[in-house]
Amino acid sequence: MKKKLTRLDLQGMKDKGERVVWITAYDCITAQLAEEVGMDMLLIGDSLGMVVYGHSGTVPVTMDQSIYHTQAVRRGAPNTFIIGDMPFGSYHTGTSEACKNAIRFYKEADVDCIKLEGGTRVAPIIKAICDGGMLVMGHVGLTPQSAGAMGGFRAQGRTADSAKFIVEDAIAVYEAGAFSMVVEGVPPEVTRLICEAVPIPVYGIGAGDCDGQVMVCSDILGLSQTFTPKFVKRYGNLAQEYRNVFSAYIDDVRKGVFPGKEHVYHMIEGEAGKLPKK
Ligand code: KIV
Repeated sequence: MKKKLTRLDLQGMKDKGERVVWITAYDCITAQLAEEVGMDMLLIGDSLGMVVYGHSGTVPVTMDQSIYHTQAVRRGAPNTFIIGDMPFGSYHTGTSEACKNAIRFYKEADVDCIKLEGGTRVAPIIKAICDGGMLVMGHVGLTPQSAGAMGGFRAQGRTADSAKFIVEDAIAVYEAGAFSMVVEGVPPEVTRLICEAVPIPVYGIGAGDCDGQVMVCSDILGLSQTFTPKFVKRYGNLAQEYRNVFSAYIDDVRKGVFPGKEHVYHMIEGEAGKLPKK
């Protein structure tokens, strides 16, 4: 049986230069398959809003939706380190509300840590959750919950001045007690500065090489039907597989090929003869 990683394992992997590989997952089957092939971690990201619910961003995702999907992933991957993603609004109104919502992830969905977006601005929230004995993963750079404030889903830190603020954010997240962080949508030069500034694991998405990578699962599977960012590598074309399977099923049913004899239940011997004759 696969051994679930701990915070100490993850720090050890960083210290030994072993890259951590993880993806998002929102359902039990994906979680089962990811655990089977040895994925290090699973994030029930608030990208749920776009991937599963068809919204144009992450803002509409609710605590209840996040909890339901996190429970499904935990059932599918009982031996994988899982990360609950605090949705927009769940940590914005004060430390007490933030702690209450972080606790929900632990109590109701058996997470190994929670993740929240932001730097200096959310440092007191990170500290309060850590003081409550929970593990926090930070998320700096492009923070999709603030896409509106950032002027859209745009790469961040492309000027020296803005890069400086992102490094300051990363330091604030570390000093507040986060055990690791995601860096999204920044040039590799900025990621390198962050890695030099903090001793905790730094995981990238659209941020170049660092202590590990996270990707949205539907992007690497080639399932996403909407815009795919430049930093995504597609490892398959499942959208075409879906089309092929759905079309073949439609053809079979319309032609009367499916269901065949092998797909039906048979009556117990002698019973068919007792049915009314036509
Ligand atoms: O919600 C999400 O999918 C994320 C990843 C982009 C890290 O936060």
